[in-house]
Amino acid sequence: MKIKNICCIGAGYVGGPTMAVIAQKCPEIDITVVDINEKRIAAWNDENVDNIPIYEPGLSEIVEEARDRNLFFSTDIDAAIDKADMIFISVNTPTKTYGIGKGMAADLKYIELCARQIARVAKDDKIVVEKSTLPVRTAQALKDILDNTGNGVNYQILSNPEFLAEGTAVDDLMDPDRVLIGGDIDTSEGEEAVQALVDIYAHWVPEDRILTTNVWSSELSKLTANAFLAQRVSSINAMSELCEKTGADVNEVSIAVGMDSRIGSKFLKSSVGFGGSCFQKDILNLVYIAKSFGLNEVADYWEQVIIMNDHQKKRFASNIVKTLYNTVSGKKIAFLGWAFKKDTNDTRESAAIYVADYLLNEQAEIVIYDPKVRAEQIYADLDYLNTRTEEENRKQVKVVNSAYEACEEAHAVALLTEWDEFKELDWKKIYESMLKPAFLFDGRRLLERKTKEKIGFEFYAIGS
Ligand code: UDX
Ligand code: UDX
Repeated sequence: MKIKNICCIGAGYVGGPTMAVIAQKCPEIDITVVDINEKRIAAWNDENVDNIPIYEPGLSEIVEEARDRNLFFSTDIDAAIDKADMIFISVNTPTKTYGIGKGMAADLKYIELCARQIARVAKDDKIVVEKSTLPVRTAQALKDILDNTGNGVNYQILSNPEFLAEGTAVDDLMDPDRVLIGGDIDTSEGEEAVQALVDIYAHWVPEDRILTTNVWSSELSKLTANAFLAQRVSSINAMSELCEKTGADVNEVSIAVGMDSRIGSKFLKSSVGFGGSCFQKDILNLVYIAKSFGLNEVADYWEQVIIMNDHQKKRFASNIVKTLYNTVSGKKIAFLGWAFKKDTNDTRESAAIYVADYLLNEQAEIVIYDPKVRAEQIYADLDYLNTRTEEENRKQVKVVNSAYEACEEAHAVALLTEWDEFKELDWKKIYESMLKPAFLFDGRRLLERKTKEKIGFEFYAIGS
């Protein structure tokens, strides 16, 4: 089976970059990325590729090359479904905010809407690929909806979770550790569908890195991978607090531990807490699934990863208050960084949001600079918490266009995102423009203590 037309529903952080890379690597396949959000699609089609809605190093070049050749962005979802042999579902699956499983389970409403739309439109056989991270056995629900439309169309459901990390999405897609494809491998139709997707990735991924499994293993592997990664961050963050009490340095501990090849050095960087759209959502989802099978010990085990992460964010914020003589009321705190990590404009679940919320509750005034995040996003993140009115957020929080402006006359600077440019700042100039004593809180272990203390800063860094 040769795929000629692909449709991807969801032009977000996952769908956009993934389809751009497939389009670049497979020029003979036409790919249409569709989305209900007209503004987003218009931005993907913007003549100036620097205005595409997602910032990822290397992405705009690929979009420029493939767009309007074999990569198209559209809001006409029906037309794209109708034309496609293969449909990727890449819509968001947020944590439920209502009803059963509120605050834990994944909300599958958008997935179901996609399935119903495909069922309504499709006139010939389709391969439907789950790209969104989903609870185990979601494929069954998809299949039930699709198979019960009674119009004689056959569907194959594949699970092909995306492991790309934001900020390195293009590199991760170009050179993945593995590509995972789950399908109904016990039937010949299922095997054929799996092979069709394998053939697409085989354009650029060595075959020994393309792993095929049954659907359930594939779905669960994605949740497991994210849970393990998040667990490593919470593990080193737990040690960071112990380091601060004992005189050990978490960076040194991390290097010493990571040199053990059985442990490995990646994902052992202590921080103010992990963020991003996936880790918390996926672990909560895992906890919920475990609980729903009565596996309470399994659920509690994984929930602790989230508890530790929340503690780390709170601990960082409360330490700022404590250090500033137990009050930040009316004091100006400069935030360097708002994104959940460097090289992305994504702010979902960013630790900075929660640190800000804590300090705003203590009546601090916060001035924020992030090289890629816009003011409207920052206000939207704070408003979403519903902790105070929109007016109060705008009164207590200012967003500025440079780090120097943010730090002027500040009582303290908090570094929340590890943007490279923060390392290169003229810290002496910043020190001179601040109120004294000038406090500097490094939530990312980005800055060198010695040089900052020499300038005169009261320096605090996570885990030392
Ligand atoms: C996110 C998570 O990162 C990923 O783990 C999860 O598996 C899927 O959701 P992401 O691409 O980052 O993926 O989400 P987002 O940037 O929100 O993009 C989803 C897009 O789907 C949005 O642009 C939204 O408008 C679109 N959408 C949503 C539809 O087109 N139709 C719908 O019914 C719902
Ligand atoms: C993650 C997974 O890495 C990716 O495979 C999956 O597809 C989606 O979820 P992402 O959320 O984009 O990707 O970023 P990631 O690099 O994993 O970082 C997540 C958070 O952990 C960030 O806030 C980051 O700053 C933090 N982190 C990461 C640490 O605090 N320390 C580390 O050592 C690594």
